Amino acid sequence: MRELVAETRLTTDDVVAPLFVREGIDAPQPISSLPGVVQHSLASLETEVADLIALGVRGVVLFGVPLSKDPVGSGAFDPNGIVQVALRRLRERFDDRIVLMADLCVDEYTSHGHCGIVDDKGRVDNDATLEVYVKAALAQARAGVHVVAPSGMMDGQVAAIRAELDGGGFNDIAIMGYSAKYASALYGPFRDAVDVQISGGGNRKGYQQDWRNTREAMTEVAADIEQGADIVMVKPALAYLDIIAAVRAATNLPVAAYHVSGEYAMLKAAAANGWIDHDTVAVEHLTAIKRAGADFILTYLARWFAESAD
Ligand code: PBG
Repeated sequence: MRELVAETRLTTDDVVAPLFVREGIDAPQPISSLPGVVQHSLASLETEVADLIALGVRGVVLFGVPLSKDPVGSGAFDPNGIVQVALRRLRERFDDRIVLMADLCVDEYTSHGHCGIVDDKGRVDNDATLEVYVKAALAQARAGVHVVAPSGMMDGQVAAIRAELDGGGFNDIAIMGYSAKYASALYGPFRDAVDVQISGGGNRKGYQQDWRNTREAMTEVAADIEQGADIVMVKPALAYLDIIAAVRAATNLPVAAYHVSGEYAMLKAAAANGWIDHDTVAVEHLTAIKRAGADFILTYLARWFAESAD
């Protein structure tokens, strides 16, 4: 009877796997704060994507870890940057068998760790950053991405990227906006995964959302929709179920939610101590994110879920 009346069902169709690819390595490297997640080499990334396709996962989102960083984050738009190289390889081998998404930001590639170009006072220059983002969008498009996912929270980023992609003949590439992205402390393990430290003990509060605010998030989501976003995302997920529900009610576009590194790490740590039951809590958490209104969930649990789902 409970199965007949269950209102929310989580399936492998609902999860997208975030994957890290690191330049210059031959074997995958573990990430201590993200147990079970690795920095992939190009070869191990390809194997992982093949496995995910076999398991029925519909999408991956790529993050790059470059060999060297510079103030403008050149690796984000260099045709030979690690994510562009990975995209070309994956698109060539798998074509449209899995949706290839790429995080579009520069923080993994900048020496100062900010998501944009920093001026001489150490502040992120919004409009100078847009010029770099559009170059990254074109580079990812040329490399074979299906969906670009701008995550830097710069004002006007979706409009600028849409115009550049359309101008370059890439009008079929979708934009998934990290639209309501909060300045969360739950991204800590991710920053280990991509070797990012924000210089001078800085933070992202100048461009990411204040977690005390809902209306501000709704304004950001509306701006992304107005500018041409195809999918809007809320991030993190579990502490923001109210935001997911509000965004779901406000738009008929697909809504994504990012179950972030810190959310995953807390689950793994508590389970490793025997304090909670990993599998049950994992499914409870992911189902709650879907129940709140997410159409799909970016989660480091994607592979595990696909393997354990019926
Ligand atoms: C920025 C980006 C971040 C995450 C995804 N894209 C880090 C940040 O904003 O500091 C975090 C993802 C996670 O914690 O799992 N490129």
